[in-house]
Amino acid sequence: MHPTLGIAVKAARRAGAIINRAARDLEGLTITRKRHADFVTEVDNAAEQAIIDVLQRAYPNHGILAEESGAQGAARADHTWIIDPLDGTTNFIHGFPQYAVSIALRHKDVLEQAVIYDPARNELFTATRGRGAFLDDKRLRVTQRSQLRDALIATGFPFREFQHIDTYLAMFRDLLPKVAGIRRPGAAALDLAWVAAGRLDGFWEMGLAPWDMAGGALLIQEAGGLVGDLKGEAGYLDSGNIVGGNPKIFVQLLRALEPYVPA
Ligand code: IPD
Ligand code: CA
Ligand code: CA
Repeated sequence: MHPTLGIAVKAARRAGAIINRAARDLEGLTITRKRHADFVTEVDNAAEQAIIDVLQRAYPNHGILAEESGAQGAARADHTWIIDPLDGTTNFIHGFPQYAVSIALRHKDVLEQAVIYDPARNELFTATRGRGAFLDDKRLRVTQRSQLRDALIATGFPFREFQHIDTYLAMFRDLLPKVAGIRRPGAAALDLAWVAAGRLDGFWEMGLAPWDMAGGALLIQEAGGLVGDLKGEAGYLDSGNIVGGNPKIFVQLLRALEPYVPA
């Protein structure tokens, strides 16, 4: 394993241990509402701090962009760690076991390392640019399914900001009869990891944050898949709109979504 990836894995496992401990006593959890349907728990904050401690000890000059504490030194540094300490907080609060820790390292504009750790299943997804994607020690490949009508697609519904809702529902209505199934598991980072792992053929969502996407995007690319914005282009970390999948399903998803893509 690349030594930098090893540090990220150590950080993700520390966060995972904090999450698993808290999952045993959900009733004792302190929950704060940031805005409509946007919750943060002491677990999000503790997991994020544990991750930052590990990364900063190893790489004091790297920048950090983390969901709960924001940007630290990221503007000046060439290397930035992009962190979601608990992706799927709403699931976590409800004991719905679909959530993950996501950590990615970006060098300038290029994603170099990715870790997505699912603490409920103890599944560790990792990727280093140019060296492939793995689930634990198993090499990952995206699916080979070639027809949208056979494809299982995951998505995320708009649920806290609704500026995309009409566009999103038009996309959903169009796509539903064209695919084998659509799922909304509730943790975007893990959805992307599952595309890399071949459990899903594709994924799309609008209005995401960089920490929801960065780790999963590299995993998909290193598993032989494609990711892009709604036009198939590179700006998804900035726009928040992402499509991913095996190469054939990616192209067909883009074609199906195209009529609804905002100009
Ligand atoms: C959320 C999850 C969810 C997605 C949201 C994200 P959070 O992240 O990834 O699946 O639909 O847009 O914000 O807030 O649980 O870290
Ligand atoms: Ca998230
Ligand atoms: Ca989060």
